[in-house]
Amino acid sequence: MASSGRRAAFLGVGHYAPDNVLTNADLEKLVDTSDEWIIERTGIRERHIVTDEQAASDLAVPAAHEALERAGVGAEEIDLIILGTVTPDHFFPSTACIVQNEIGAKNAAAFDMLAGCSAFIYGCNIATQFIENGRYERVLVIGVETLTKLMDMTDRNTCVLFGDGAGAAVLGPTEADGGILATHMKADGSLGYLLEMPGGGSRQPPTHESLDARLHYIKMAGREVFKHAVRSMCESALYVLDATGYKGEDVDLLVPHQANWRIMSAVADRLKIPHEKVFVNLDKYGNTSAASVPIALSEALQQGRIQPGNLVLNVAFGAGFTWAAHLVKWV
Ligand code: ACO
Repeated sequence: MASSGRRAAFLGVGHYAPDNVLTNADLEKLVDTSDEWIIERTGIRERHIVTDEQAASDLAVPAAHEALERAGVGAEEIDLIILGTVTPDHFFPSTACIVQNEIGAKNAAAFDMLAGCSAFIYGCNIATQFIENGRYERVLVIGVETLTKLMDMTDRNTCVLFGDGAGAAVLGPTEADGGILATHMKADGSLGYLLEMPGGGSRQPPTHESLDARLHYIKMAGREVFKHAVRSMCESALYVLDATGYKGEDVDLLVPHQANWRIMSAVADRLKIPHEKVFVNLDKYGNTSAASVPIALSEALQQGRIQPGNLVLNVAFGAGFTWAAHLVKWV
């Protein structure tokens, strides 16, 4: 949907990654893989990983603090917290409520949202609605994952791909000529089985048998996911470009979900966006799912890759399947 009238904008973005780093060489000692294979097939060199004691909120809180500081917004000014994750601290209470308490956002509503790797963009798009319709002034959107806790370290098809981290953004209305110009979200639940954690929920509550069958780990049909990821990310990206009359060539920076360099480059090629306009930090973080776009956005801003007036295209794809994009004229 393209927006007119009051527009939402990013006021500040922050991120946080745990200190521990797991390199491809470390993984070579655990499964039958190689640094060369991982770099060539994915683009990943290393990833940050949590300790046994760290949970999602421990990463989300420092990311939120950084976003608030960059926005110049106090925690008590936040009206709503939307936290995207598939690895919450607990099923309940929500991790959004834990973060709300820890940062002192005492005037905020708060909820978790499960939309896989698209969750941060879903969250921003929902926040945009509340801001455009005047209901809220300040919304904190967080993407956080501790995916390494769901990783089967005996499955080389998945354990080389994921990492842990958090990114956060404060959104609010803008008077300037820009902000979030258009949003898109979509899902296809018929394909959910291609990327899932089968155990641990109400369908298959944890039992000794389910743990022995390793049902509490990520299962993924990588090749199938790859195909759908490229197609769906292009669909969302083209939607927001068409809705605003822009073309791929007009985009100053593409910030795609950091899952695999081959997916990102295929999407850029189809959109006619040159590779130097694609932000990549996958080599350092791996796939951090809901955290990947906000970590990338935060680093892109820190590195001066985004300037006022730039056209920034954020796009993601994830478990569900879900996919989403928004086009931002940076203010
Ligand atoms: N090291 C060495 N060999 C491996 C490894 C590994 N870590 N993993 C798989 N292989 C082998 C396979 O066993 C296979 O061997 P075989 O031909 O003898 O059977 C061979 O490599 C090729 O396997 P493919 O699965 O075809 O490899 P592909 O080139 O497709 O790359 C990958 C696999 C990286 C998983 C790719 O399919 C991919 O990136 N898919 C998308 C994954 C993704 O983006 N998921 C997340 C999106 S949603 C989200 O972020 C939660």
